[in-house]
Amino acid sequence: MAIDPIHENFQQVALSSSDTVSPNSEGIALQVERLGLQLDGKVILQEISFSLPVKGVTSVIGPSGAGKSSLLRCLNGLLTQWSGSVAVNGCDTRKWRGGWDQLRRHVGLIAQKPVVFNTSIRTNVCFGLKSWRQRRHADELVEKSLRQAALWNEVKDRLNEPATTLSMGQQQRLCIARALAINPRILLLDEPTASLDPHSKQLIEQSMLQIAEQTPLVCVTHDLAQAQRLQGPVIFMCDGRIIEQGPGEQLFSQPQRIETREFINWSVCDCD
Ligand SMILES: Nc1ncnc2c1ncn2[C@@H]1O[C@H](COP(=O)(O)OP(=O)(O)O)[C@@H](O)[C@H]1O
Ligand SMILES: [Mg+2]
Repeated sequence: MAIDPIHENFQQVALSSSDTVSPNSEGIALQVERLGLQLDGKVILQEISFSLPVKGVTSVIGPSGAGKSSLLRCLNGLLTQWSGSVAVNGCDTRKWRGGWDQLRRHVGLIAQKPVVFNTSIRTNVCFGLKSWRQRRHADELVEKSLRQAALWNEVKDRLNEPATTLSMGQQQRLCIARALAINPRILLLDEPTASLDPHSKQLIEQSMLQIAEQTPLVCVTHDLAQAQRLQGPVIFMCDGRIIEQGPGEQLFSQPQRIETREFINWSVCDCD
């Protein structure tokens, strides 16, 4: 049987950071239990519990200030002073081999505004590659990641040009490719299309759906139609808590809570 060098590299990365996997973690990529966060004495998140399946896009919706970005920052270890438990593939993130820095590599976070480095498109994609195995197959990884991020056709002939010459929409897809190149266990996206044109938005949504066939995604979005198009479970947050969660189809057509209904209809939430 031929060995796929890229897949082999990914396996190496995945195995090198493994901790003990709990026996009941099968089929669950992320398990969050009773997550709480206080910043400057203010409660930002409380009693957050949910799990992510190994595939698909889970959308997080809710008004500004609900704690959506803070939640993503706790999940990838940018914020560490939270309480409760977070397990990725059955591994407690507090005990992640290599610490928070390694966790941040394996739980990628894409911000609303793309952050590209002042170097070539190719170097941007290769930025996180550490092992010699990955670097040896860098060309294949660059192509594979850019294809997954729906950017390859637009940049294949200009990989050595500065990344800063790309449009905002292309830069956001480059950020996604950079995160994919190191084979994240989970990819978190914080309003990834909020400041982009409709065409870029459509390309990124298609790319997310394709990536989600292999890697679980969490997408925070203000755009309820986008959450529906992404087809997966939906978590509705307000005031630092989860008000309701469930399959998107059900949550949008038959919300169980009055707060959810109001948010879906009028984009307001009065959950105090
Ligand atoms: N570093 C911080 N210190 C104190 N409060 C913060 C900090 N970061 C965010 N907050 C507060 O946490 C709440 C949730 O913010 P955020 O997670 O950005 O919400 P969302 O992404 O849903 O708009 C807001 O009230 C915000 O002011
Ligand atoms: Mg936010």
